[in-house]
Amino acid sequence: MKTLLFVDDEPRVLQGLQRQLRPMHTVWDMYFLENGSKALEFMATRPVDIIISDMMMPGMDGSQLLTEVLRRHPQTVRIVLSGHAERESVLRLVGPAHQYLSKPCDADELRKAIARAFALRDLLENERLKQLTTRINNLPSLPALHSQLTEELRQDSPSMERVGEIISRDIGMTAKMLQLVNSAFFGLAQPISTPMDAVTYLGLNTIRSLALSMAIFSQYDQKTCKAFSLDALARHSWITGKLARTVAQVERQSTQFREQCFLAGMLHDTGQLILAFELQDEYAAVISQARMQNVPLWQAEQQSFGASHADVGAYLLALWGLPNPIIEVVAMHHQPARCAAAEFSPAVVVHAADVFAHELSGAETEVTPPPLDTAYLATLGFAERIETWRDACREAIEP
Ligand SMILES: [Fe+2]
Ligand SMILES: [Fe+2]
Repeated sequence: MKTLLFVDDEPRVLQGLQRQLRPMHTVWDMYFLENGSKALEFMATRPVDIIISDMMMPGMDGSQLLTEVLRRHPQTVRIVLSGHAERESVLRLVGPAHQYLSKPCDADELRKAIARAFALRDLLENERLKQLTTRINNLPSLPALHSQLTEELRQDSPSMERVGEIISRDIGMTAKMLQLVNSAFFGLAQPISTPMDAVTYLGLNTIRSLALSMAIFSQYDQKTCKAFSLDALARHSWITGKLARTVAQVERQSTQFREQCFLAGMLHDTGQLILAFELQDEYAAVISQARMQNVPLWQAEQQSFGASHADVGAYLLALWGLPNPIIEVVAMHHQPARCAAAEFSPAVVVHAADVFAHELSGAETEVTPPPLDTAYLATLGFAERIETWRDACREAIEP
């Protein structure tokens, strides 16, 4: 049975949660505690799968508690359940919390968020990868973009457009912005799927304090994994996003669909960044193994870790609460036929764009380029379209 721990200093809130979640007691083992120290004491005695904490509490607040949980029990999923008045202070939690829910939260919404987090934990089977991914609270950024952003934000009147443009070129910054704006905390009816919209929505002042005082973006140290180049990955991701948008355009898809394709293309290889950053030497060995055996990188990862960068990336972004269509693309970009619905979707588009990006720009990231699943494209009725897509992509790349 999965274990859940709720922490809130108001007894009324705890009682309410207890009542709302009573029907779940046959499947979840639930505990309700009134402060952070009790929660930490409890966690020292038994493993907890998900902790759901209030934000404003006397003594140890939610931010301090979750930071400590992150340090002592990195495998635990961390969710904040907080009131709207506390919006500013919740921003401090961008690091230690995976997701934010706002109070009052109806039982159904809460049950769904918890069930989704549990389902995710079963998605990635490798315990070690699960643990190291759950521990991550931000993805490193390209040093050049990081300093461009800092410089722009230090100006007297920074340009919103320029800030959005810099963020949209970086995998880590893009993922973080979307995690933040898509949290249930902000109560958006429609998920935001472009970094530019995220910047506009949060406003420059908030972004400035997140980036400058709270340092939510960190820089990548090229020395961490020598066989891996974040520069090359960033270039490849940007081109894949651009080509995905091109293919969607050729198929006359809506603006929203096209932007989703761009974003998903930008994030599709997030897992590579995680593995290079967290496993360093081990990942360098996998890269050279792929090179020696002449197999796509994801297959070599599968052999060594029992999971690929697609699984790891999808797990992290899902944990961060990014919109479902994006997660599906990240998870399925090498094997779109595994998608639940056999239809023309961003997953199909990004799969093709990824392959074209390798063909057309000779990306150095994946040693043996991933093959195009032409059989699957044919079952969807797009066999005749492949050459048209490729031509449009070639045009989009060559100036
Ligand atoms: Fe990939
Ligand atoms: Fe790729």
